[in-house]
Amino acid sequence: MKFKYQCVDCKATFETDEIVYQCPHCAGTEKKGEFPKGNLRVLLDEKELKDLKKKDHVTIYDFFPYYVPNKEVYPVGNTPIVVPKRLNDKIGLKNVCCKMDSFLPSGSFKDRASQLIAAQAIAHNTKKIALASTGNAGAAMSCAGAAYGLDIILFVPETAPINKLMQSVLYGATVVPVKGTYDDAFLLSIAYTKHFGGINRNTAYNPMTIEGKKSISIELFEQLGRKIPDVVYVPTGDGCIISGVFKGFYDLMCAGLTDRMPHIVACQSEKSNAISQAFKTGKFTNIEASTRADSISVDCPASGRMAVQYLKDYDGWTVEVTEKEILDAQMNLVKNSGIFVEPASATAWAAYEKDVENLKKKFSEDVNVCVLLTGTGFKDMAVFDGRVSLPPSIENSEEAVIKRFS
Ligand SMILES: Cc1ncc(COP(=O)(O)O)c(C=O)c1O
Repeated sequence: MKFKYQCVDCKATFETDEIVYQCPHCAGTEKKGEFPKGNLRVLLDEKELKDLKKKDHVTIYDFFPYYVPNKEVYPVGNTPIVVPKRLNDKIGLKNVCCKMDSFLPSGSFKDRASQLIAAQAIAHNTKKIALASTGNAGAAMSCAGAAYGLDIILFVPETAPINKLMQSVLYGATVVPVKGTYDDAFLLSIAYTKHFGGINRNTAYNPMTIEGKKSISIELFEQLGRKIPDVVYVPTGDGCIISGVFKGFYDLMCAGLTDRMPHIVACQSEKSNAISQAFKTGKFTNIEASTRADSISVDCPASGRMAVQYLKDYDGWTVEVTEKEILDAQMNLVKNSGIFVEPASATAWAAYEKDVENLKKKFSEDVNVCVLLTGTGFKDMAVFDGRVSLPPSIENSEEAVIKRFS
């Protein structure tokens, strides 16, 4: 589909076939210590969008600005919806579901963006893609690289969970661990593309990342029988996923396929709450993040301004949770619903649980809720150290069984 870019800050629009990252007027004009300015939003051709209204069924690819070739080599989408009935019965809201993006090829939501970036690279005859990641985006891009034959250069904080780093090494990416934070890795990956070329896939810096992530909303709309949930809970760090979720519903509205947006909630750790604070105070001030939920640990949210704008424009809100609430939610999900997710995803469930009374007041007990679960628990087993251990082995004998259970 044809498209143009629009700056989130000055609203100028740009039409170009070249790859662009940021608004030339606004990028870098933020004050020191504040969220970056100059991110671009992709605006799809209005007429082509409206034509989609005639279709009985739409897919995510109807809404993509680039053609995705050979989708079968890296199948992204159609993730299941799970109804955690035992938890719903306990909490007292029955229409609550979880969208299981932990089932995507590399085990996280980030495959959605990586698929579109792979398509962008193929359309521009480029094989090299560089990026920074807290772990999941890197693993997803590396997975796409292995599937499509692309060269991935990945900058990651050396403290990222080992499973995520090993995954990227196994997929064949060039992994560069950085003695620094994710925000440091972000700047180094931009320095890499400046000196050595290739496409930069940094979250939000490349507008196609948000555009790829929007696919979840379009998919959800079809899966729910062309209905929009009342409220969607999204784990939030950089604000790129939540901006993508808003954008998907926004495109559905522009296509005339729905006449309303859901309320979308940014779920953050109290120890990584830059977007939530900006939403509440109107000040776009960076923070020092320190949450154990590594995927949402962000000092300077790359898509922070866009996320806050969307939250304000479409009646969203934010919920901050404690570290204990995140880890308890992770246990609660796995033990009482069989849903095994990493701490960042559990943050969305923790925020939903914390928000239940508010939901009952604002809506009713029939409120339709979707909680996005963005990454599998296998990504970070170290988080269970000291919390869960294997019981001791028994001898290989019948007596040992009797002794064990008597
Ligand atoms: C599993 C998971 N959930 C949530 C997020 C948060 O997404 P964003 O940083 O775009 O807000 C990430 C980001 O890396 C992630 O990997």
